[in-house]
Amino acid sequence: MADVKVQNLAFRAGQTLKVKGKPKSGCSGFAINLGHSENDVALHFNPRFDAHGDLRTIVMNSRQGGAWGSEQRESSFPFQQGEEFKVYITHNNDSFEVKLSDGSVIHFPNRLGDDQFLYMQLEGEVQLVSIHIK
Ligand code: GAL
Repeated sequence: MADVKVQNLAFRAGQTLKVKGKPKSGCSGFAINLGHSENDVALHFNPRFDAHGDLRTIVMNSRQGGAWGSEQRESSFPFQQGEEFKVYITHNNDSFEVKLSDGSVIHFPNRLGDDQFLYMQLEGEVQLVSIHIK
């Protein structure tokens, strides 16, 4: 289980974060977490191949003081085990916009409300290829 943590990312409103990664073959799911810490996550972006009863579904949520908020689910799922993916996450102050490789665009509210997040975690059976902020 890979677990990459970045503690000083400085991802600010107006910026776009590009994450490239590669889920391992047999990966049940992985997550990109953006926020302040493991317990305070503004964006939990969690593609599930087969996890917690979900098949090929993206689950998004936030976490405050360790408590999960309400989940948002997406039906588009342009991810394959063993194949590299690219996601673009834009911080639009009040919300995040996530662009996937099939052209779908997902919006998720910025429930923590901050305009800067320093923490990013890549969680699960996934290899980090690169991150870029613009
Ligand atoms: C839970 C899962 C967490 C997280 C959360 C999102 O069931 O254990 O890892 O994905 O759902 O709401």
